[in-house]
Amino acid sequence: MPESVLTSLTEEIYRLLPKGLVVNFELPKNQEAILAIPVFRLAKEEGIGLDEAAHKISNLLSGVKNVEFEVAGGFVNVRLTEELYNKALFEAGQSDFGQTEIGRSKTIVIDYSSPNIAKPMSVGHLRSTVIGDALKRLYLSQGYRVVGINFLGDWGTQFGKLLVAYKDKFGDFEPRAITLDELLELYVDFHSQAERNQSLEDEARRLFARLDSGDQEVKILWQHLVDISKKELSRIYTSLGILDFELMDGESNHLAQAESIIELAKARGISTESEGALIVDLPELGTPLLLKKKDGATLYASRDLAAIKERVGKYNPEKIIYVVANEQSLHFQQLFSVAGQLGLAPNTELIHAKFGLISLPEGKMSTRQGRVVFLEDVIEEVIEKAGKIVKDKNPEFSDGQIGKIAQKVGVGALKFYDLANNRLHDIVFNWEKMLALNGQAAPYLQYSYTRAESILSKAADFEPGSDLNLKPYRDQIKMLAKLPLVIGSALEKNSPHLLAQYLFGIAGEFHAFYEKYPVLKAEADRPERLLIVKAFANVLKNGLDLLGIEVSERM
Ligand code: ARG
Repeated sequence: MPESVLTSLTEEIYRLLPKGLVVNFELPKNQEAILAIPVFRLAKEEGIGLDEAAHKISNLLSGVKNVEFEVAGGFVNVRLTEELYNKALFEAGQSDFGQTEIGRSKTIVIDYSSPNIAKPMSVGHLRSTVIGDALKRLYLSQGYRVVGINFLGDWGTQFGKLLVAYKDKFGDFEPRAITLDELLELYVDFHSQAERNQSLEDEARRLFARLDSGDQEVKILWQHLVDISKKELSRIYTSLGILDFELMDGESNHLAQAESIIELAKARGISTESEGALIVDLPELGTPLLLKKKDGATLYASRDLAAIKERVGKYNPEKIIYVVANEQSLHFQQLFSVAGQLGLAPNTELIHAKFGLISLPEGKMSTRQGRVVFLEDVIEEVIEKAGKIVKDKNPEFSDGQIGKIAQKVGVGALKFYDLANNRLHDIVFNWEKMLALNGQAAPYLQYSYTRAESILSKAADFEPGSDLNLKPYRDQIKMLAKLPLVIGSALEKNSPHLLAQYLFGIAGEFHAFYEKYPVLKAEADRPERLLIVKAFANVLKNGLDLLGIEVSERM
């Protein structure tokens, strides 16, 4: 596994410096330095002047090879020597560039997608699926073991409602072939009837209680409906190119353990009874956590606590990352606090990687039922739109070719549109922006890659000499060399947009480079320029791959 120029360099610098000093690698393009170390903090801590602090730092680093230090104002700037520029450019063209072994022997659990089943998946779960999948790929690339868990919402009163409507429609609880659309209709029917007939809600509660107590007749039907949903889900994951989950879990797998968590909470004396229900008071959050309902049913929270215990016991993860909407912030604050009080995860960091809403401009999208927009329809539509774009650009392609490329471009566009935004922000669907060939969109990045590849294929004969003149291209090399550091910060914040934004910058830089320097017809530096084009293509491909976005040789 390669150590890249910049990962080794930053590691070495961090090792030599006093703890807590940060290294800054977001430098303006036309600076000669590749990294800068701010010296203010050291000066302040030691009560010395900036100059003295800067010299102290450069003395500490004097053993670092192949770099030059320069004291400038409040910073120590780090410059690569010619030799390292060479090495960095070479690395950036390697297929495994960006990968490290930093996470070796550490495990990360990622809980993502996790839709509520027995209804079609909505676009709301797209974000969790796409962000979770990107995080998984990013952690894997750094050598971590990743356990991806799909925590299906397969238990709860909504199943009581479904059972009522099912019985009403078919007369019994016999499992039948039924589609998710039909199941959704059952929900819709239930709700419109329940508005007029209050007793249906009671009936639903009764049926869920039957299910909860293990009644075979309803359990068999429930299992059947769960199986139908899982099949549909896996079809969607395949069309989105989502990596397989290590575990298809479900709330229903944690009923018994949820009971023992409740017992544990009682034994520890952290729970109190309140109007027949069991709660844990959480004064610091202002809202108690409900562990058990008056009617004795376990809840989402107690099942989630049980799942934490199981995950910690089975995988001993360094982190459990929940990729779940902002709306559930309180739930996770409560969950983490109670898990702490119960000592369920003493050596595991629990992280809610939350995200904002995805909304649709009114009237712009086709909807099958009411106002819910189904992920499947969106996927279909984006691929169709991508197909038109590909056809426009390449009228000579066959339908089969167009179909294949449209799949990559359409799905890529959908994912990138989500991933390029800071996950905390809300996003509004916009087909034009999503599919732009010259904006912050996957097609633009994919197109840049294709363009670079086509240059390289036309220059198949190139033989890079040993003494390269890289001086004119240092800006490009510095930028390309940063991929591993960008991956590092994306992981530190569980924020794939940092990588997406970087890649957008890389595509822009590639076009600028190509405008400025002829490559195939170059009179000077042809091998150098080809190497740079190769590195651009490679960084784009590797980076997009980490976001779960495919590139195409032709487009
Ligand atoms: N099924 C839930 C929902 O759709 C999300 C579950 C997230 N994961 C968890 N462990 N709570 O709202």
